[in-house]
Amino acid sequence: MNSSAPIGVFDSGVGGLTVVREIMRQIPNERIVYFGDTARVPYGSKSKETVTRYSAQIVRFLKQQDVKAIVVACNTASAYAMDEIERESEIPVIGVVKPGAKAAIDATKNGRIGVIGTEATIGSQIYTRYIQEQDNSAEVMGKACPLFVPLVEEGLLNDPVTDEIAMRYLSSLIDSGIDTLILGCTHYPLIRAAVGRVMGEGVTLVNPAYETARELRELLETEDMLNRSKPGLGVDRYRFFVSDAAEKFIRFANSIIKYGILSAKIINIEEY
Ligand code: DGL
Repeated sequence: MNSSAPIGVFDSGVGGLTVVREIMRQIPNERIVYFGDTARVPYGSKSKETVTRYSAQIVRFLKQQDVKAIVVACNTASAYAMDEIERESEIPVIGVVKPGAKAAIDATKNGRIGVIGTEATIGSQIYTRYIQEQDNSAEVMGKACPLFVPLVEEGLLNDPVTDEIAMRYLSSLIDSGIDTLILGCTHYPLIRAAVGRVMGEGVTLVNPAYETARELRELLETEDMLNRSKPGLGVDRYRFFVSDAAEKFIRFANSIIKYGILSAKIINIEEY
């Protein structure tokens, strides 16, 4: 595989851009092809079968873009479809759940870890499974926070409404005495400040997006697949594809990534 080939990253919509942002920061030479499934978002309230079918279509699309590795930036897709995606791919695939779980185990001192995410991610118990596979004495407390995604998409990142809802969702986790909390959804790193205010300084917040980019860098290093040549600033460096509402995607993307995203191409993902 050509080491200058791009990394394929996908998510149910805009949230995976928090993972793209970390990849851009940590391995800036890498080219990226991003797909956001803006026509079919949210994944967090859909069934495993549906999310797996959507993910398989996106993987087929990304493989056609000749990517050298795939990052499943969506926690819900990582929770539901990782086995299927790995079976279908001859190229390396990284999800966000394993790196997030591993970072939480490293961070906790009292062995009590909280996880917040979509209903699907929390219901799947995937974080609990990964954590307890590595440390069976760890206790994991999950809490679905479905309103966080629309709050982020409405831009209410620093707003009393977000703090109020965070307080309602997170109070049971505060009471349970966790010292580490995994932000197990693509959107949550964007309201990290609100979550931190509610949880207090004694709780370490783990951002799986950061850990995933770190693991990707390590994987590319080990496999000798890092892009050694600095790509130019041409349009080919980062390419964005969506299944709907490209203008809205571009606006959101530019609010969180400093690169200056000018275009996103709409494709019909059902054809893949
Ligand atoms: N990207 C999803 C996740 O990380 C959140 C949005 C959705 O429900 O699709 O789980």
